[in-house]
Amino acid sequence: MALFSKDIRTMEDLFMHQLRDIYYAEKQIVKALPKMIDKASDSDLKTGLRHHFDETKNQVTRLEQVFEMMDGRAKTVDCPAIDGIIKEANEVIGDVEDKDVLDAAMIAAAQAIEHYEIARYGTLIAWAKELGRDDCASILGQTLAEEKAADKTLTQVAEARVNVTAAA
Ligand SMILES: [Fe+2]
Repeated sequence: MALFSKDIRTMEDLFMHQLRDIYYAEKQIVKALPKMIDKASDSDLKTGLRHHFDETKNQVTRLEQVFEMMDGRAKTVDCPAIDGIIKEANEVIGDVEDKDVLDAAMIAAAQAIEHYEIARYGTLIAWAKELGRDDCASILGQTLAEEKAADKTLTQVAEARVNVTAAA
């Protein structure tokens, strides 16, 4: 996010910029998830990723709702951070052959994505409140809760996988 862009003068400009950034990120995640779902072996991981794929599509719609509430058109701004996280995920996934190790790599990649989103939504919610837009904050809060739950599910799948592997 080009924080020092001259177009950003007010807190509202900054909020809208970050909204476009996460809108771009969510759209990239919608594109990235099917490949991960396809490659996952663990059935809980597959189910969890599939569930989050549906949630993510709804999160895109929620962001469009927030744009509308802010009287703005839904626009994206390039987000090199999420591009980098997804690129790295694809590289690692492409390199791993063992299916258990591949699952572990994908869980790690998915958690990096979730943590990025959690950071972004946390900030957006704080800024929305600062701008007196509790209505927007509450919609963004629904997404934040989903991202946190997705992260927790990934941890549970990872721990179950480690336990099974350790027992084998
Ligand atoms: Fe998301």
